[in-house]
Amino acid sequence: MPSKNRWNQVRPTQYRVIDEFEQSNMAVGEALSRLSGKYRTDEANSTMHMTRERLLQIISRMDSLVGLDGVKEMVRQIFAHVYIQEQRRLARLKTDPLVLHMVFSGNPGTGKTTVARLIAEMFRDCGLLEKGHLVEVERADLVGEYIGHTAQKTRESIQRALGGVLFIDEAYSLARGGNKDFGREAIDCLVKGIEDYRNQFVAIIAGYENEMKYFLSTNPGLPSRFPIHLHFPDYTLSSLIAIARQTAQEHQYKLAPDAEFILRRKIQQALLDASREFSNARFVRNLIEKAIRHQASRLFQRSRVSREELMTLRAEDFREEDVF
Ligand SMILES: Nc1ncnc2c1ncn2[C@@H]1O[C@H](COP(=O)(O)OP(=O)(O)OP(=O)(O)O)[C@@H](O)[C@H]1O
Ligand SMILES: [Mg+2]
Repeated sequence: MPSKNRWNQVRPTQYRVIDEFEQSNMAVGEALSRLSGKYRTDEANSTMHMTRERLLQIISRMDSLVGLDGVKEMVRQIFAHVYIQEQRRLARLKTDPLVLHMVFSGNPGTGKTTVARLIAEMFRDCGLLEKGHLVEVERADLVGEYIGHTAQKTRESIQRALGGVLFIDEAYSLARGGNKDFGREAIDCLVKGIEDYRNQFVAIIAGYENEMKYFLSTNPGLPSRFPIHLHFPDYTLSSLIAIARQTAQEHQYKLAPDAEFILRRKIQQALLDASREFSNARFVRNLIEKAIRHQASRLFQRSRVSREELMTLRAEDFREEDVF
């Protein structure tokens, strides 16, 4: 018989479970399943073990995004909250349960998917998520055609997202069809998945602002499970120009002054054209990508091309027929 005191074999994570149970922060069932190792949320998923400097480094990845000051500030707050909760836990102070599911609202092309992908990676780098991948789904991926099909499809999407982020685009459309619609079943299944796989994935629901408000009101379980709201405003003209420069630069191109002039005019026209839905940064990216193809056709007609010419987008590369 080993003479060692059994408590000497208890790992630090298990001490924490006992502490939380004693402080009435954890139900007896959860405490037992965590201690027996049957509970799938391990400590690496629910807490962050890192220095403040490393965390600041991770957060600085957001700086490369143009504009989005409000979003950046909110993301900083989220990470500060998580970090300070962890410090409080280490100091044996009361902690709040981490609920990191989010609502993103904003028009098309305002950076919602881009930021979701970045947050997933940042959570991975902090140890909050295991894989940090993004599974982007919409109504058709979650809602089935017969009884039982919806639950199966939603569960499969959640399974695919474990360790990462489940991003539900146009989430509003799940609530659109009324009580008999299978969309409601998908929402119930999502709420259940959030409980069953606590801390194993982050759900982000996205759509237009008013629609998201309505969506949250359709199921009493939703508001408390999605406490973080990030609004993505439309980009200003100067931010759109900066995004154009950045997109060109990413592909190792630059805009000649006359090209920038034309581009500015095109963006202004598109902003004023109320008959079309303006797709913000996506509109600008598409313009640059088309200009790159036009530049290639222009240069292909010549026998010799300098390095400088290979890098430069000119006004004629932004042809009129590309306004959309
Ligand atoms: N702040 C930004 N800085 C640089 N590029 C950006 C920024 N925001 C968006 N983009 C670029 O614009 C494109 C559209 O962005 P994204 O797909 O994230 O928008 P979205 O809000 O998810 O749009 P939708 O609602 O239509 O799905 C992407 O190619 C992305 O790289
Ligand atoms: Mg998107």
